[in-house]
Amino acid sequence: MTTPDLLRPLAILAAMRDIPGWLEDDEAELLIAAAAHVTRGGGARRLVEIGSYQGRSTIVLAATIRALSPDSRVFAIDPHEGTVGSADARLNHGSPTFDAFVANIAAAGVAAFVEPVRSLSYEARWNDTIDLLFIDGLHDRFNVERDYRHFARFLNPDAIVLFHDYAAYYPGVVAFVDTLVAQEGWSIAAHAGSMVMLYRGA
Ligand SMILES: C[S@@+](CC[C@H](N)C(=O)[O-])C[C@H]1O[C@@H](n2cnc3c(N)ncnc32)[C@H](O)[C@@H]1O
Repeated sequence: MTTPDLLRPLAILAAMRDIPGWLEDDEAELLIAAAAHVTRGGGARRLVEIGSYQGRSTIVLAATIRALSPDSRVFAIDPHEGTVGSADARLNHGSPTFDAFVANIAAAGVAAFVEPVRSLSYEARWNDTIDLLFIDGLHDRFNVERDYRHFARFLNPDAIVLFHDYAAYYPGVVAFVDTLVAQEGWSIAAHAGSMVMLYRGA
């Protein structure tokens, strides 16, 4: 008999903390809850992450599906050029992150559940339905909206969309999320730190 792969949130958070990035524990816990929610009916689900950096949030999503839905996959989209921030405020240009990303995913034991897509979001070719979309690329209004619009038509009716950095320090993220809620039928299901989770419904 093989050992069951249990969902161990504290172990996931402990593994995450070793990886450079900005995700806090409460935000990661919301990612775990969202991934668990979209995989609850069984079957292979597609979770799309825009902005993976060195894999901090990627391993949170991937470790969750490893335990709950091993046929599901995280599509981790990032050009890995090391540019982070907001195009309308400050961009920081660091070192390329792809090698660290691959090493961190492997070290966490989740490589089999992650499809790295080394691309800008809006240049990624996509044709499949999406169950969870997590947006954490550049944080100005233009880029966050472009990330969302490129994938929005592929979202399943009961899909979840999460945005990181929904906070006053990134007003473009706040403005766009608030527009989705006011004008496009989305509701805020949960909020932790600067992570906000949207679903379609009242
Ligand atoms: C804030 S970091 C992501 C942090 C990561 N989610 C974590 O938990 O550590 C932003 C990342 O977005 C990537 N990025 C910037 N523009 C992008 C775009 N248009 N499409 C995809 N990724 C993008 C950058 O290369 C960078 O690695």
